[in-house]
Amino acid sequence: MRLLALPSFLASLALTSALPTVNRLDSDESKPLPLLIWHGLGDTYDADGLRETGKLVEQLHPGTYIYYVRVAESSTEDRTGTFFGNITTQIAQVCEDVHSDSNLTGTDGEIRADALGFSQGGQFLRGLLERCDGLSFRSLVTFGSQHNGIQQFPACSDYDFLCKGATNLIKGNAWTDYVQNRVVPAQYYRTLNESTGLPSQDYLQHSNFLADVNNERSARSRVYADQVASMENFVMYVFEEDVTVIPKESGWFAEVNGTTGEVTPLRERQMYKEDWLGLKRLDEKGGLQFKKHPNGHMQLEDKILVDAFQAYFGPESKSNSGLVAQTADAYERVQDAVREVKDYL
Ligand SMILES: *[C@@H]1O[C@H](CO)[C@@H](O)[C@H](O)[C@H]1NC(C)=O
Ligand SMILES: *[C@@H]1O[C@H](CO)[C@@H](O)[C@H](O)[C@H]1NC(C)=O
Ligand SMILES: *[C@@H]1O[C@H](CO)[C@@H](O)[C@H](O)[C@H]1NC(C)=O
Ligand SMILES: *[C@@H]1O[C@H](CO)[C@@H](O)[C@H](O)[C@H]1NC(C)=O
Repeated sequence: MRLLALPSFLASLALTSALPTVNRLDSDESKPLPLLIWHGLGDTYDADGLRETGKLVEQLHPGTYIYYVRVAESSTEDRTGTFFGNITTQIAQVCEDVHSDSNLTGTDGEIRADALGFSQGGQFLRGLLERCDGLSFRSLVTFGSQHNGIQQFPACSDYDFLCKGATNLIKGNAWTDYVQNRVVPAQYYRTLNESTGLPSQDYLQHSNFLADVNNERSARSRVYADQVASMENFVMYVFEEDVTVIPKESGWFAEVNGTTGEVTPLRERQMYKEDWLGLKRLDEKGGLQFKKHPNGHMQLEDKILVDAFQAYFGPESKSNSGLVAQTADAYERVQDAVREVKDYL
């Protein structure tokens, strides 16, 4: 009622403080979402190949701000961190790092981004999404990742002493806290009980990372599931000739019988049917994509990268929920401004 009696200069004050927000919607629409890229085992955040990939995204979507995820600024230490460290600690640190980058955070301190994960970087980005407050992804695209873990440790090349050091530590000790706290691939190692076909007790009890982010323990996180279901696109590429990731179908969240090689696709698994992780919800709204890439592990084809980057990265379109949220946010601000003026009267 009193609002009707607002002096016009106060009314215009309310509008001007609200309008810049509304106007920002138009300009933000054409701006691409920032992109987080997390590299794989034995790679570094400043490697040429990774930067080339980033440049490809920039060519397709000029103005994309790209954040190359790293656990150390020195590339040697960043590489070491792909073999050694506690992933829980690493993800917590990355969460802090991204929140302190003003190019990633919106005015509300929240991060809305796309994400691109290569190999283990794929499941780590998913872990980041699940655990990092104030972060949401429109698209998460993973290439040759190990979403359902590995049943064997990757073979090391002859002179890769870091890799050999890691695998030597693991041998016979994978489930000790010592190894789970230190050796990265051990934290997404996953074994099944041969007689039940269910995840082994060792895995459920001792896995420092995967059993948690996959919500396989009886106390399931609602937040993890909501975060996963909140994406618009979760696009999982499996390399058809992959012999590094065992089993390669892990990249599609499938369960594989290590003895017979029988594959149980995600949609037939209990974790999907009971929707432990929000994957079913995501699938039902058309957000879950199972894709194939020819070649062996991480032998990327530009054409496939271009198609994926074109389809899933870039500006957020008008019709999506992100914009609805922003519009609701702008509406809130108009309401706040009106309330302020009311208080003033
Ligand atoms: C933000 O982006 C600009 C332009 O790319 C860059 O110059 C600046 O260093 C970035 N800031 C941070 C904190 O990375
Ligand atoms: C890894 O780090 C987290 C957070 O600091 C800690 O709670 C956890 O116990 C560590 N994991 C192991 C296996 O030591
Ligand atoms: C496999 O599961 C069965 C039934 O729960 C259990 O008795 C057995 O100890 C398990 N085996 C291993 C190696 O954990
Ligand atoms: C694999 O399949 C064989 C044959 O069906 C079965 O005996 C075995 O328990 C299965 N193993 C797992 C881990 O499911």
